[in-house]
Amino acid sequence: MQYSNFGQRFACVSGTRKLMDDLGAVARAERPVCNLGGGNPAAIPALQTHFRERMAACVASGEFDALIARYDDPQGYRPFLEAVAQYLNATCGWRLTYRNIVATAGSQASFFMLFNLFAGATNGGVRRILFPCAPEYMGYSELGVEPGLLRSCPARIELIGEHGFKYHVDFEQLQVASDVGAICVSRPSNPTGNVVTDEELEQLGARAAAAGVPLIVDGAYGLPFPGIVFCPATPVWSDDTILCLSLSKLGLPGLRTGIVVASEDVVQVLTSFNATLMLSNNPIASVLVTDLLASGELRTLCEDFVGPFYAERAAQAVAWCHESFAGLDYRIHSAEGAIFLWLWFPGLPIPVEVLYERLKVRGVLVIPGHHFTPGLDADWRHVHECLRVSYAQDSAGVRRGIGIIAEEVRKAWAER
Ligand SMILES: Cc1ncc(COP(=O)(O)O)c(C=O)c1O
Repeated sequence: MQYSNFGQRFACVSGTRKLMDDLGAVARAERPVCNLGGGNPAAIPALQTHFRERMAACVASGEFDALIARYDDPQGYRPFLEAVAQYLNATCGWRLTYRNIVATAGSQASFFMLFNLFAGATNGGVRRILFPCAPEYMGYSELGVEPGLLRSCPARIELIGEHGFKYHVDFEQLQVASDVGAICVSRPSNPTGNVVTDEELEQLGARAAAAGVPLIVDGAYGLPFPGIVFCPATPVWSDDTILCLSLSKLGLPGLRTGIVVASEDVVQVLTSFNATLMLSNNPIASVLVTDLLASGELRTLCEDFVGPFYAERAAQAVAWCHESFAGLDYRIHSAEGAIFLWLWFPGLPIPVEVLYERLKVRGVLVIPGHHFTPGLDADWRHVHECLRVSYAQDSAGVRRGIGIIAEEVRKAWAER
């Protein structure tokens, strides 16, 4: 069969596909596996209880039958869009209406639409998406319909104490060239847990505005919900900013609902994308969350349950790393948000891909660092010495997994 050039990219197994297959194998495994790999959120009882009760009420009242028996508006379930706008206005002081909000089939779908809206062939030449603070989310890698649409600028590394470090936007190296169509940053970052500071975000916004392109902020873990941020940070939005939110990390990844907050023009274009790709969105997750938004209860749930849950998990995982890695050369990125620790083993004597395979044999799934450089031309040795570890799944497995990582890194040094 003859595939298109676009189709060819999916006919060979990409890094993302291979890792997702490995995760699938974990789900089917008979022996216990330490799953420190995927991006699944934790099951947080306060939220699960709400979703279960709301769903039961929805079914009991007949609302469910009505919802599943019709195609909804391609912009999204209208009461949800209105509740999102009202919630963001109340919590962030913005002035949005439902015309600034569009629901999507998950933020992965939001990024597919946004990247291909702002990058690709134009009358003025090919435009690209610029990631100003790599390492960046590996899920961005295959999203351009045309190849070569993504470009990353490596972060500046600040060493902190004996075992810490933090990435910063390297404004001296960052070039917003004339072929850039949008700037995009995850905040907090997947994979690193970095939260670009308010000042950095303001400067990125200024650089984007000067170039006449939007700044896309990926808030899948961020502000104002789900609020998995452990350091001071302000949510931002303006007509030139596109804020992408998601219901996944609140505990609903299976229901595939993303939210884009943007100018009315951009919302209209994304609504047409939705209509073409899917006719309409699945409204179930929107229905489960609308009353939490409308009552403001979501804020309490995020502040009292979601944020503290992950902050505690992060602190615990950091403590286990210090305990297990004692005597090794290692650094941990400041855990400022999201659900991951980003570990750096400077001078690691084997490529991190090899370490990944050895850990897999030992029943520990992590994500090797070199996958997190969408559109980075040069081979950056630093990311071949880094690993992403999720601390969202069961604590005993995380602790055991960190111990096995320490053993394998020690072994790699001993073999040298
Ligand atoms: C930074 C980031 N952005 C976007 C997504 C996509 O999330 P979803 O499509 O589930 O909303 C993820 C998923 O893990 C992510 O980590």
